[in-house]
Amino acid sequence: MEYKVLSNGVKMPQLGYGVYQVTKEECERCVLDALKAGYRLIDTAQSYFNEEEVGSAIKKSGIPREEIFLTTKVWIEHYGYEACKASIEESMRKLQTDYLDLLLLHQPFADYYGAWRALEEYYEAGKIRAIGISNFYPDRMIDIATFAHIKPMINQVEIHPYHQQEESKTWHDKYGIQMEVWAPFGEGRDDMFTDATLS
Ligand SMILES: NC(=O)c1ccc[n+]([C@@H]2O[C@H](COP(=O)([O-])OP(=O)(O)OC[C@H]3O[C@@H](n4cnc5c(N)ncnc54)[C@H](OP(=O)(O)O)[C@@H]3O)[C@@H](O)[C@H]2O)c1
Repeated sequence: MEYKVLSNGVKMPQLGYGVYQVTKEECERCVLDALKAGYRLIDTAQSYFNEEEVGSAIKKSGIPREEIFLTTKVWIEHYGYEACKASIEESMRKLQTDYLDLLLLHQPFADYYGAWRALEEYYEAGKIRAIGISNFYPDRMIDIATFAHIKPMINQVEIHPYHQQEESKTWHDKYGIQMEVWAPFGEGRDDMFTDATLS
């Protein structure tokens, strides 16, 4: 497995398995299969409604917790300082863990400033190893990177051959924020797998 080292020194597997649109019924089996196949980064979110199944798969796998890099994301309706803190506790309970490797704010809407303060607090208490954002365009990313107490370590955004975000990457490099890709296969759309230019 290859790794990326984040700005705070945390090592993160470069390849991961995401469970967006994986149903509750299938999720535990899918995550167990992914772990058996060698994946060590699992990416879920409060809004995927499958954190409990991810947690039980990790438990059942028998793989030591510290060998797995576990990500979840706070959904917009849990933004604001107090609501975000309560949702982090709920996510950790569902995931059957007392710490998270990476916690992201899922979208740059509503009171994400208050939510970010909650992430900072958990990070400083050692309960989250890395904190970040998701779907923040460069202007929002620069805003939080400049004015927050702790700069995000990650911005998880859509990147694939049809949406390369080169200019955005130059801004992230400038601020030392690692871009993490979602939909690397363009969600299977636009005939990416039969595109003559790509094959
Ligand atoms: N932060 C965010 O807002 C956000 C948003 C979206 C996703 N994510 C994260 O990123 C993860 C990955 O993104 P994603 O699942 O949306 O998109 P993706 O990985 O780009 O695409 C998955 C799709 O690609 C298809 N596919 C894969 N290999 C293929 C092949 N060889 N031939 C044809 N089709 C193929 C799959 O089809 P089959 O289903 O038929 O296998 C599946 O539908 C998610 O699970 C989630 O964890 C985050």
